[in-house]
Amino acid sequence: MQDLMTQTIKITKVAQSKAREVDFHNIVMGTRFSDHMFICDYQNGEWQNPRIEPLAMIPTHPAAMALHYGQAIFEGMKATLGKDGTPLLFRPDENAKRMNFSANRMGMPFFPEDLFVEALKQFVAIEKEWIPTQDGSALYLRPFMYADEPFIGMRAATSFKFIVMASPAGPFFHKKIKLYAEKKYVRAVNGGTGEAKAAGNYAGAIRPTEHAKTKGYDQVLWLDAQHFDYIQEVGTMNIFFKIGGKFITPDLSGSILAGITRMSVIDILRDKGYEVTERPITLTEIIEASKNGTLEEAFGAGTAVGIARIEEIGNKDLSIKFPSENPVSDMIADTLEGIKTQEIEDKFGWLVAAK
Ligand code: COI
Repeated sequence: MQDLMTQTIKITKVAQSKAREVDFHNIVMGTRFSDHMFICDYQNGEWQNPRIEPLAMIPTHPAAMALHYGQAIFEGMKATLGKDGTPLLFRPDENAKRMNFSANRMGMPFFPEDLFVEALKQFVAIEKEWIPTQDGSALYLRPFMYADEPFIGMRAATSFKFIVMASPAGPFFHKKIKLYAEKKYVRAVNGGTGEAKAAGNYAGAIRPTEHAKTKGYDQVLWLDAQHFDYIQEVGTMNIFFKIGGKFITPDLSGSILAGITRMSVIDILRDKGYEVTERPITLTEIIEASKNGTLEEAFGAGTAVGIARIEEIGNKDLSIKFPSENPVSDMIADTLEGIKTQEIEDKFGWLVAAK
């Protein structure tokens, strides 16, 4: 077979784009999908037939292994428009790397990282009309891979699909969030799958999140499984605290997803002169910082939501309230957004033009 990178991506376009039917001022992320998808098949030990074609149903055998054993991983990315209208990707090479980290953990084949980036560029260039222009909005991109081999037996599948689809996402309204410090359910343990972007991790979070919502909270604050004290993540995001002028975030110790927003926030904070330490953080020390008046700000950081300011962490035994001003969280949110739309210089070299 021809080397995958030397194969051209076969392109079949829709006769008429549906983009003009969409009210981009009233969009709920994940409810409308763009015209096309990128799709590539893994068969006989090789990725083959990379193509962009009209978004359509994918015939799936009821025994497809992803449906039974959850061999499925995904990525989340956003495309924005630059000042001159060029579609831009944000650090797509990092998503390509992380996808393969997840693939390795879940017994799935690597997807060539250069093809990942090239496919995203060509796909986003075709879907340019779907990139919303309102402040804070973007085209959310969802690359994913799943086992489509029909087989009821426990082993790695031998056939997979890699697909990229897209959904326009409106501006995130900066509602502050209340976190439920969860002491019954856990998201991840060291050695588990929490540091991979595995579909099943998200399924396991659904019921605890529903419980948190019925108690009046917005998201779960995930704690470790042994002590229910070490802070891991918040909802589907990484978490940062500002205490006594310095930032801390949990280190990537084996149960935490290596967020691309997380790594970008660390770079921006350090560039602005803040000290950022990645280390284990306990709920106990956050309570202590709140009592002694050094707890200043906290926020969640993730691709879909961006920067989510935290106003409270609580549960039936606890209530930690954060100061109402979030100057550094606001600066981070504005800087990330500004870089993505080229309102702020991309001094880190994160943007990749999709053309
Ligand atoms: C993202 O932030 O991109 C995520 O993957 C979260 C997703 C569950 C919406």
